[in-house]
Amino acid sequence: MARRTKIYEGKAKTLFEGPEPGTIVQYFKDDATAFNAEKKDVIEGKGVLNNMLSEYFMTGLTNIGVPNHFIKRLNMREQLVKACEIIPLEVIVRNYAAGSMSKRLGIEEGTMLPRPIVEYCYKDDALGDPLVSEEHIAAFGWASQQDMDDILSLALRVNDFLSGVMYGVGIKLVDFKIEIGRVYEGDFQRLIVADEISPDSCRLWDIETGQKLDKDVFRRDLGSLTDAYSEVAKRLGVMPKGATPMKPTLIN
Ligand code: TMP
Repeated sequence: MARRTKIYEGKAKTLFEGPEPGTIVQYFKDDATAFNAEKKDVIEGKGVLNNMLSEYFMTGLTNIGVPNHFIKRLNMREQLVKACEIIPLEVIVRNYAAGSMSKRLGIEEGTMLPRPIVEYCYKDDALGDPLVSEEHIAAFGWASQQDMDDILSLALRVNDFLSGVMYGVGIKLVDFKIEIGRVYEGDFQRLIVADEISPDSCRLWDIETGQKLDKDVFRRDLGSLTDAYSEVAKRLGVMPKGATPMKPTLIN
């Protein structure tokens, strides 16, 4: 295959120039990191699972009219996506307290929140992606007021969609993170859901047992991450075929 131009290498994905202008090939790596890459490992098969799961969620969003970057999956580890300018914010939606919110506010993990709460973190690894307010976002020009209205609406639509899909397979959507991209179409611009939606960027708990089926399994050393992600994929009917790196016992 012809050598491709690498555009960007992140912690879990690498981006290459796509075959057409305005497209990007997104390659899902097996690398797992946590705590701003203080904890690292290579988890065989994670990239394959996240590629398939992100395809599943983004396609579902397309089907209900939520604009996103996904064009098509190319192979087990790669998907073609629309090129966009990533807004430097991590947009977090929480339905139940967990993780940094529980720590910050002293709320027990698993407590249902009075309504979904949307938080913004400034995307900057060197700073550890600090929590910021809309005041910071406006003052520093990271996004306009119109952008913020659109981002909030996208985030809540993704939350309703994902909560419903996960509830249907016996999983509670505790919280998740999305990233938003800006695309230019002639004189117009619009915002779309970008990056990925996968168990790397969500908290997913089994409704019956409370078992964690997301990256907290890695962050907190709770067992096999591929077992957890495979369980999510299996329940959603997204189990990859011929995914060699996966443990045979998980393919059934
Ligand atoms: P937090 O409780 O650690 O702030 O995480 C909130 C949600 O955001 C959780 O679903 C995990 C996800 N997340 C990411 O996708 N990337 C990150 O870098 C962090 C810190 C969290």
